[in-house]
Amino acid sequence: MNTGENSPQTEMANKNASLSSRRTFLFKLSLLLNGAVGAVLAVPIIGYLLGPAAKGARYNNSWITLGPLSNFPEGETRLANFRNPVTTSWDGQTGDIPCWVRRISGTSFQVFAINCAHLGCPVRWFAQSKLFLCPCHGGAYYADGRRASGPPERGMFEYEYKVVGDELMISVGKMPTLAEEASISPPLTQIAGAHRLSALEKPKPRCGSCPG
Ligand code: FES
Repeated sequence: MNTGENSPQTEMANKNASLSSRRTFLFKLSLLLNGAVGAVLAVPIIGYLLGPAAKGARYNNSWITLGPLSNFPEGETRLANFRNPVTTSWDGQTGDIPCWVRRISGTSFQVFAINCAHLGCPVRWFAQSKLFLCPCHGGAYYADGRRASGPPERGMFEYEYKVVGDELMISVGKMPTLAEEASISPPLTQIAGAHRLSALEKPKPRCGSCPG
């Protein structure tokens, strides 16, 4: 006899069906929310990872002016600044990069990265002694950038330059580091005469108990 009431089995089945559809709905909702959160997080992460490469490719070998030639008297070495094109406007002063400009004569220049070739400390030019000296570990370089003494194994890094009209321009876009030296095209040049010590050239230890 049908009394209009569901049997306990039917009620249980309805309850299970309702629970199951609610669980399915919540599962789909969580998938949707996870997807949305993932997309929100992925955009800046992908931008962070790919941004420098994209910018680097865009600004590699871009030419930047260091100012008029009259800023650099012949026979002198002067500090100059340029804005790194890879930086953004909110990088502030960290985007300003100093370099040493040596005007040999006329349109003949040398433009040195300020970073020591050892571990990158900023080197200073001392006009009286005609040496670049590094405050960190005592590295010294001659006026033409060749290594003079101390831990650096090579001369100073040089920027490529050209004179356009009355302006001195240099090729920039990457920080000159030992790690990037080989990957820059064309490379920041190594000063002629500077060289790495090979295993054979390295000084042998001298002490009473040392062999050789
Ligand atoms: Fe210049 Fe070490 S960083 S000598």
